[in-house]
Amino acid sequence: MSSPLFDLTGKRALITGGSRGLGKAMARGFAEAGAQVMISSRSAEELQAAAAEIAEGLTVRVEWSVADMADRAQVRALAAEAEARLGGVDILVNNAGINNPQAIDEITDEVWDKNVEVDLTSVMGLTRALVPGMKARRWGRIIHISSVLGVGGRLKRNVYCACKAALIGLARASALDLGPYGITVNCLCPGPFLTDMPGKLLNDEEKKYFADRTALKRWASPRELAGPALLLASEAGSYITGEALVVDGGAAINTL
Ligand SMILES: NC(=O)c1ccc[n+]([C@@H]2O[C@H](COP(=O)([O-])OP(=O)(O)OC[C@H]3O[C@@H](n4cnc5c(N)ncnc54)[C@H](OP(=O)(O)O)[C@@H]3O)[C@@H](O)[C@H]2O)c1
Repeated sequence: MSSPLFDLTGKRALITGGSRGLGKAMARGFAEAGAQVMISSRSAEELQAAAAEIAEGLTVRVEWSVADMADRAQVRALAAEAEARLGGVDILVNNAGINNPQAIDEITDEVWDKNVEVDLTSVMGLTRALVPGMKARRWGRIIHISSVLGVGGRLKRNVYCACKAALIGLARASALDLGPYGITVNCLCPGPFLTDMPGKLLNDEEKKYFADRTALKRWASPRELAGPALLLASEAGSYITGEALVVDGGAAINTL
């Protein structure tokens, strides 16, 4: 039998961007720990397939819902739908994100606005909508998926770094707002994880460079974020709040 510290039986989790990559891996980790799970993204087809994969071999419920995090009305609707279909949301993982590299003197207003909307504003909007239910139940776990680029920098990642750093500030402030209600708010800061996002953005030389920067000398598989997420989502992490947990195979400590 698994440790009760990590048991999510009876808990209901919403994971945005759960159709692939890190979101899907965290959703599977929560489902394995006994949680009912809802995933969201913009693609019904991808969500349906991902929900079946997440539920495979398990008895828990896996729901899915299409919602574009660039659209504030859809963000509000997702919160209402998750509460209605799951009967409440105890664990929220704000994972959906985009990354459109542009140098500081090349950033267009359009790219800036879209990235800020998806990577930052939707996180505030969804959290704001789901916090009242958590407060009423006096229990909640909120996890924002930031990045090592939220604590450091990288060329041409201006809007991405700005949003990911802002999530850490947001988590710290709301941890203080919500602590009295038994709700923790934290960030996970992943390093190089092999998903579509870096797969599309980086060439082979950059991919090798990223692996070489880590202490472990390799990229992570998405599954390797499921454990850290489970820590922050469960009783095991009950006294961790306002933190930014770096999960990067030792890349950020490698300064020279
Ligand atoms: N992979 C890494 O190395 C790494 C490192 C640090 C941080 N992160 C962060 O981790 C999170 C997940 O990244 P990933 O690597 O798993 O990326 P991914 O494979 O590209 O997955 C991104 C997920 O977000 C969804 N999404 C994107 N735009 C959306 C929108 N406007 N509305 C709703 N859903 C949207 C995608 O589905 P649709 O496109 O179908 O909507 C997909 O489910 C992101 O916040 C990313 O910044 C990743």
